[in-house]
Amino acid sequence: MRHLPKLELHLHLEGAAPPEFVRRLAGEKKLRLDGVFGASGAYDYNDFPGFLQVYERATAVLTRPEDYARLTREVLERSRDEGVIYTEAFLSPDFCGGRDLEAWRDYLHAIREAAETVDGIAMRGVVTCIRHFGPDLARETARCAAETAGAFVTGFGIAGNEAIGKPRDFVWAFDCAREAGLGLTAHAGEFGGPDSVRDVLDDLRVTRVGHGVRAIEDPALVERLAREGVVLEVCPASNVALGVYAKIDAHPIEKMRGRGVAVTVSTDDPPFFHTTMTEEYEALHRVFDWQGEHFRDIARTAADAAFCDAETRAALH
Ligand code: ADE
Ligand code: ZN
Repeated sequence: MRHLPKLELHLHLEGAAPPEFVRRLAGEKKLRLDGVFGASGAYDYNDFPGFLQVYERATAVLTRPEDYARLTREVLERSRDEGVIYTEAFLSPDFCGGRDLEAWRDYLHAIREAAETVDGIAMRGVVTCIRHFGPDLARETARCAAETAGAFVTGFGIAGNEAIGKPRDFVWAFDCAREAGLGLTAHAGEFGGPDSVRDVLDDLRVTRVGHGVRAIEDPALVERLAREGVVLEVCPASNVALGVYAKIDAHPIEKMRGRGVAVTVSTDDPPFFHTTMTEEYEALHRVFDWQGEHFRDIARTAADAAFCDAETRAALH
């Protein structure tokens, strides 16, 4: 499983920071990290709001472009060692320079340069706004995305707490990103139900949905996703760790695939959810009997849906 070539479309760069990386950086900077790690040394949270809080506390140790350069190298080396040949990472101007355009350019330069030093894996950036930070900050984030759109920044998305605000509040940000030629994706149908997925399709006009799994609760929506070729960035271990499903056996990914929905597989925030791409593949093999043809299929789907240029896409097939 480790050696199967994998494409990952949904990975939060800060969320991929191993606990020991965060601890080391905090130690170097003499920063206190309260309420981040449990007794075992792992990230410690009880529910989704708690997860977001720990995520933001851990991210606060990343204060300079060079911190992000180190993080990028560490994350890409780990992904590459799991067989990942292409990854799209969510990058947040909120954490990288507080949405100041010149500061954001410095962070982005550091991330891109670091990514180019890691052999065997290609990376693209999907600039992401954060739903619970509100639409005004999302507008500033979209401007950062639009100003830096190009060969490396190829997408725009929204993450954060789906229970807060409505997709229609973010239409300006998504229109701005679309006009800049960026591919569009939105987290929905993770903690929100089918209406939440419908709203990002209708209001934000995304071609991909982050998670989207709770669409399974509405057969008409499942049919629509299949008919319109909407691609789901499914993160099974994340959904189990955050309590969306009690265990992987109850996860709808196989039902979705069976009904013609274009599914892909990602890890979301791997150290938070104690997963890797190889472990995701092993679980899908064990529980749903996915074999080589299934894994080839999802890699093909991911290559077709990747926010990169046609030449890169062709090389991924
Ligand atoms: N940010 C990082 N991981 C996330 C998730 N699973 N859902 C929403 N926002 C996130
Ligand atoms: Zn996510």
